[in-house]
Amino acid sequence: MDILKNLKLVVLDDFTKISMFPSVRKFFIDTMDLKLSGYRDKYPQGVVPIDGTDFIARHYVVADTTKGELKPIMGYRALSLQQCYEHFWSFPLLGLAQMVNSPRHISLIQSAMNHSKDKRSKLSYTSCFTITPDLRGNKDLVKTLQDLMMVMHQFYMMEDTNPHEIFTVGVMRFKVHETFEKFGFIPLTDAEGQLPDMISPYLAGEKVRFLSTTKFNERLIELTQKYMSLWDNRIILDSNTLDSKPTLLPKAA
Ligand SMILES: CC(C)(COP(=O)(O)OP(=O)(O)OC[C@H]1O[C@@H](n2cnc3c(N)ncnc32)[C@H](O)[C@@H]1OP(=O)(O)O)[C@@H](O)C(=O)NCCC(=O)NCCS
Repeated sequence: MDILKNLKLVVLDDFTKISMFPSVRKFFIDTMDLKLSGYRDKYPQGVVPIDGTDFIARHYVVADTTKGELKPIMGYRALSLQQCYEHFWSFPLLGLAQMVNSPRHISLIQSAMNHSKDKRSKLSYTSCFTITPDLRGNKDLVKTLQDLMMVMHQFYMMEDTNPHEIFTVGVMRFKVHETFEKFGFIPLTDAEGQLPDMISPYLAGEKVRFLSTTKFNERLIELTQKYMSLWDNRIILDSNTLDSKPTLLPKAA
């Protein structure tokens, strides 16, 4: 069976600007629900993968269309420094580095923020990757969703002609850092060498690795070709698209 046949990529950008559309509201809530169930399955009670930045971030989601509607089955969010400025929000990656109290992480992130401001280049942070627990047994589909998680990073990078640095944080228990590193993310490194892995207070003490990239490798660029038509047929939910096509999604029940 062609796994891709029933999959649709959805990019939902800045919910605060499109919250008036009922079908968007439903999709946003379903995406938050995916995150809650994905994390609930792996972390102790109390860990919450949702915060205020979900309202202003861009969400990259893979939806299953088997039942005639868009059911989010994999997703993550990408938040740019520019979106944070626009909404008077602080850059959450810096907050995380401050929370773990690591001067080396703080210094590298602050200098990337200054560089982005001075050179008008893009800086962003991707986080909260998850796959719906119901599908974890379907190895082929999970492999496709892992591919898409990386491929959508490449599409995100390609959206801008200006230089773009993407930061992310990989949870080591699930070997997410290995996937990131395979495709061109590099562990944060300063003059003293690679920065140590940290314990995230937001994830109940989970060990995480900070990584970044300004260019993905050939391996990812090659993989991207395989998913090009899925990307070309994506649904974009943002203020530009929805102003002209308010009925893009099926009506909310
Ligand atoms: C990250 C995520 C999407 C990966 O999903 P997946 O590709 O289906 O993989 P799994 O979670 O089943 O497992 C990934 C690896 O971690 C290992 N693993 C999973 N749970 C584990 C546990 N409780 N203890 C130790 N290892 C574990 C698995 O054995 C697997 O290793 P393998 O590749 O050698 O077989 C999924 O783990 C998830 O949604 N986690 C919760 C949210 C999260 O932490 N996101 C990461 C943010 S960077």
